[in-house]
Amino acid sequence: MGRLNDKVAIITGGAGGIGMATAKLFLDQGAKVVIADISKEALEQASIEINHENLSYCVVDVSKPKDNEKMVAHTLEVHNRIDIFFVNAGIEGTSMSIAEYPNDIFDQVIDVNLKGVWLGCKYVIPKMKAGGSVMITSSVAGLKGFPGLGAYVATKHAVIGIMRVAALEFAPNKIRVNTIHPGPVNNEMMRRIEKDISPKNPQEALKGFEAAVPFGRYVESREIADMALFLASDDSKMITGCIHVVDGGMLV
Ligand code: NAI
Repeated sequence: MGRLNDKVAIITGGAGGIGMATAKLFLDQGAKVVIADISKEALEQASIEINHENLSYCVVDVSKPKDNEKMVAHTLEVHNRIDIFFVNAGIEGTSMSIAEYPNDIFDQVIDVNLKGVWLGCKYVIPKMKAGGSVMITSSVAGLKGFPGLGAYVATKHAVIGIMRVAALEFAPNKIRVNTIHPGPVNNEMMRRIEKDISPKNPQEALKGFEAAVPFGRYVESREIADMALFLASDDSKMITGCIHVVDGGMLV
């Protein structure tokens, strides 16, 4: 007996590190899963790797209203319901001080990490007719400043506001809304950030991040998926409007 038997889940950023680990875990627990991502190639790759009859995918740019509508239409057409929404797509932008930060990259980060979360909540949650659970991926950068990551930090703080309002607005519909705040995760996003911060010696950046974590290592994507499963399942049925940190003690 799985913890998500017959539940239908949408996972945005579903072809990335955290998204894919979560898709695998949800499928193992009996859910039907739609992974949504901007990269068709990555979605095709993920589908081959996961190889499960209850998995389908949808090419979506979360910053576009029409794409969010398409994602909802796809899910309802295939499964006729939505119970779980993991609002997880995100980009890191670049590492530069506020004074130097390129305006176009700022706009991109806002579009994906903030507008994407807003539009997802706007278009998906009202279609969760039988109640359900929404998880938004924020970050430790949603609870603390990190120099150089101004745009990213701003968006990851802002989604806490969306989460709190959505938790209150949709509580009467028995829909719970929470944020997840990973520390540095051992996947492609951190590889890009390490290179961006220390192009000549990414290992040095990695060591710096690890040193900032009392457990002395990055979080694994699967460990974020474990938190997503807890929040998606009935094990957390009275938990809404809360922040959930998975960071090996980084923020302590
Ligand atoms: P990732 O880079 O492996 O995955 C992100 C996915 O989002 C990619 O597959 C990408 O194609 C997709 N994506 C980007 N723009 C999109 C758009 N406009 N529409 C749809 N999909 C889009 O990184 P990861 O770690 O799996 O990231 C997932 C979430 O976790 C993000 O919100 C990220 O900010 C957050 N996070 C990641 C941390 C890390 O260290 N990797 C730490 C804290 C938070």
